[in-house]
Amino acid sequence: MCGIVGYIGTKRAYPILIKGLKRLEYRGYDSAGVAMIGDNGNLNVYKTKGKVDNLTEYCSDKDVTGCVGIAHTRWATHGEPSARNAHPHYSTSRNLAIIHNGIIENYAGIKAKLQANGVTFKSDTDTEVLVQLVEYIMDKKNLSLLEAVQVALHQVIGAYAIAIVDKRDPYQIIAARKQSPLVVGIGDSEFFLGSDASPIIDYTDKVVYLEDGNIAVIRVKSPNGENEDEGLKILSILGEEQELKVKKVDIDLGQIEKGGYSHFMLKEIFEQPECLQNCMRGRINVEGDNVTLSAMIDYRQQLLGAKRIIIVACGTSWHAGLIGKQLFEQLCRIPCEVEYASEFRYRNPVVNKDDVVIAISQSGETADTLAAIQLAKEQGAFIYGICNAIGSSIPRATDTGTYIHVGPEIGVASTKAFTGQVTVLSMLALCLAKERQTISDELYHSMVKELTLIPEKMEQTLKTNEQIERLAPIFTYAKNCLYLGRGYNYPLALEGALKLKEISYIHAEGYPAAEMKHGPIALIDSEMPVFVIATRDRLYEKVISNIQEVRARGGRVTALVTEGDQQIQKFADHVITLPDTLECFQPLIASIPLQLLAYHIAVCKGKDVDRPRNLAKSVTVE
Ligand code: M6R
Repeated sequence: MCGIVGYIGTKRAYPILIKGLKRLEYRGYDSAGVAMIGDNGNLNVYKTKGKVDNLTEYCSDKDVTGCVGIAHTRWATHGEPSARNAHPHYSTSRNLAIIHNGIIENYAGIKAKLQANGVTFKSDTDTEVLVQLVEYIMDKKNLSLLEAVQVALHQVIGAYAIAIVDKRDPYQIIAARKQSPLVVGIGDSEFFLGSDASPIIDYTDKVVYLEDGNIAVIRVKSPNGENEDEGLKILSILGEEQELKVKKVDIDLGQIEKGGYSHFMLKEIFEQPECLQNCMRGRINVEGDNVTLSAMIDYRQQLLGAKRIIIVACGTSWHAGLIGKQLFEQLCRIPCEVEYASEFRYRNPVVNKDDVVIAISQSGETADTLAAIQLAKEQGAFIYGICNAIGSSIPRATDTGTYIHVGPEIGVASTKAFTGQVTVLSMLALCLAKERQTISDELYHSMVKELTLIPEKMEQTLKTNEQIERLAPIFTYAKNCLYLGRGYNYPLALEGALKLKEISYIHAEGYPAAEMKHGPIALIDSEMPVFVIATRDRLYEKVISNIQEVRARGGRVTALVTEGDQQIQKFADHVITLPDTLECFQPLIASIPLQLLAYHIAVCKGKDVDRPRNLAKSVTVE
């Protein structure tokens, strides 16, 4: 949800800012902008509607000099996507420029007061209100930029990561965060800012993750060496100096490049076997029959004492949670509820001290999931995070957790994070089941062994890519699609439908196959592609009956079946064959053809697969 980049140092800021924006474009891409204090002392702000490429084209004949600058790629909340509403926003005097990620909830009241005092506004955004407020306070109370920011932040309600520059002091950037991520990179007499570390890692591996309520004062020496107080200082909103917690980031640059694939999504689909190996490495022993999670060692008592598990998550992570529920109930006999974080946070749920709340999030920044954690914490529950982005807000807000370690996921449609989340949930369920003795030793060891075979079986499944690429054009005409599955495959039906919706813009629904006769069956005709996950498991025969029901109404069935299946091909229009595995691990395998199907259909329709319209990778607003 909006990407923030900043640079201050001895190099030209512009190329660093643009490269950083491209890395962060996954966070939002309806407009982009830069502000730089040029060599002539002017504060130049350039902004365009659309993606970062539009901005660079626009800037091609502009003054892009200067060694200090801030830049932004936007996902609109207040005000339509347009150049006018794009960030950075000037203050009235044009001395200040601001970029912001988040929402200032009380912006309307502040705006009205400023307007009553003669301030005029150029945009419809909440962000402009903040920069105008800072300038108003500076002028009215004769305060420095830092002091005015401190006063202004006491007046605003909401979430923010901000960076402000003042052309009268070109050796300083002030940044602050509350509930929106912000990272400062520390180089050699230079500093970087980013919504995450990806725009920073080309230049330094030393970073400081700002905490909620932190203000960063970043200063460099002027050419004549006048600035005594060069460096990074972190203050609380009250002005107290905070300890500088410098961390080392460990992201391989290759992980965030496309590596020869035409889209990040395709790369990320194909990476899954390796990702799952990384996810299990050091957790499953070399013999491949025992799982150890450090959280289980450190917090054994809290985890084994769980009377109930509540999973909170959004989107794809919520679908992974639905699979987790089945694992915890089947293997560990622990009751488990799965909640949309956005609903949970507002409905006064019953949370007990002996509940374990598992928050699942790829980005670790989803605002609703963070708020759900906060609520559960206040009610005394023990909180376990399952996240991908290292050092993000959710892992820092939880009592313990397990990273999925699948590497940066750039494509907006989540793929490898989903299978990573299901793998961690499987490992956690197996650990708990073993400790609680709810499964036999023999079953436990054989299940762990089977889990280690999944990457190999995923490799085999990826060979369906060509078949799926050939099938995809058949479905581009569809206005609606249905995805059916039962048991562990039902959440997968939901996930398959979500993938198709978000990148191809075809309406799709996931349904438990047997529920179909209670309503959705009325939709079925020869125009409606129906994708059925019909792998060989406990409910196989029942799913065959469900397929027959679809066929009898003229529906067109594409079935995902287990290798060696002879029955389903007799009445399905298309069959995609998958390697056999345990029922509970089937979603790890069967997710691959569903991801590929969505991908190839979207490509055939000419859609921007990695940056679908209206979406953002990281939803840091509620
Ligand atoms: O970063 P998170 O896992 O918390 O994100 C949750 C959802 O926003 C995310 O899964 C979204 O649904 C994806 N675009 C799905 O592909």
